[in-house]
Amino acid sequence: MFRKRKPTSTIDPQQVTLVEHAQQRIAQKRWFHNHLLASLFLNFFALIINLAFDYMADFMPFGLQWSYILATLLGILLLLHFLRVFVFHTFMGKAWETQQMDFLLEKQALKVEKLKRNMDKEATLKASAEWERERQKKNITMIAAAAENNALGKDNKLIWHLSDDLKHFKNLTKGHHVIMGRKTFESMPKALPNRTNVIVTRQKDYTAEDAQVVHSLEAALALAQEDEQPFIIGGGEIYRQGLNYADSIELTRVHADFEADTFFPEIDSKVWREVWRENRDVDEKHKYAFSFIRYEKINA
Ligand SMILES: NC(=O)c1ccc[n+]([C@@H]2O[C@H](COP(=O)([O-])OP(=O)(O)OC[C@H]3O[C@@H](n4cnc5c(N)ncnc54)[C@H](OP(=O)(O)O)[C@@H]3O)[C@@H](O)[C@H]2O)c1
Repeated sequence: MFRKRKPTSTIDPQQVTLVEHAQQRIAQKRWFHNHLLASLFLNFFALIINLAFDYMADFMPFGLQWSYILATLLGILLLLHFLRVFVFHTFMGKAWETQQMDFLLEKQALKVEKLKRNMDKEATLKASAEWERERQKKNITMIAAAAENNALGKDNKLIWHLSDDLKHFKNLTKGHHVIMGRKTFESMPKALPNRTNVIVTRQKDYTAEDAQVVHSLEAALALAQEDEQPFIIGGGEIYRQGLNYADSIELTRVHADFEADTFFPEIDSKVWREVWRENRDVDEKHKYAFSFIRYEKINA
């Protein structure tokens, strides 16, 4: 005695579909087989009674035999059945459908993948364009007063006193970050008022009143990232490094040569373009002639 197995929920639905499909296919083939047998039998029977026993021999006009017509009709039906089971099922049956579906899905997936790649590319381009716009909005400026021989200072002091230059410096830098080397900071009596003073030093324990202390120029610029125009205000060592980061230079060129121990770096005309200049002559408040000159980095 066989005990009927209860269906369990662990049967894979895909397997069930396959079994159902196979059963359907067997039924189709069986029907065709029956059709073939029935047609053969019917044809044979019709031919015998029509031709051998002359049954309804005059039924058709022009001497046609009805058994031939019947055989032709049954043959056409059999052919159609054959095509349906063995040709159309193969080309348009379930397996073919599944294959086509897989093919279309694969094509679709490739399209989606391509679209995604294009979107990623577009997003990257957009982000870099935005970054470029942001960068262009920012104007890291070096501000200095240098003699014709690029002299900046001696014994940690400024060499000249030009009151309009001090005013110019004050006007431009007011409200902004002023980034300076430790030596420049120590050359001043105190932190510059109305500005965020940032001191660059390698001394980890360095502290200063009313100023922020960082340990690299990059850290100083990062600290000033919200400022659309942070100023690098010297001295010589910091200016040399600042050239790599600056977008513009506000230079007061003092038209004389001086003995010094600190110098401004050479301004390379291939990198920097003069965009503005204002000349000042000697007067009672200004012992030397000088020019305010603005440079912008080419392609900055
Ligand atoms: N004419 C002008 O417009 C002008 C403007 C500013 C200054 N100055 C003159 O310039 C002179 C001072 O310039 P200077 O070249 O001697 O010194 P500075 O550039 O003012 O400062 C140099 C110091 O900055 C720190 N530093 C530099 N690069 C650093 C880095 N990458 N990371 C961390 N810390 C760094 C170091 O401090 P630690 O030694 O503490 O590590 C270094 O000793 C003075 O005479 C001043 O009057 C002139």
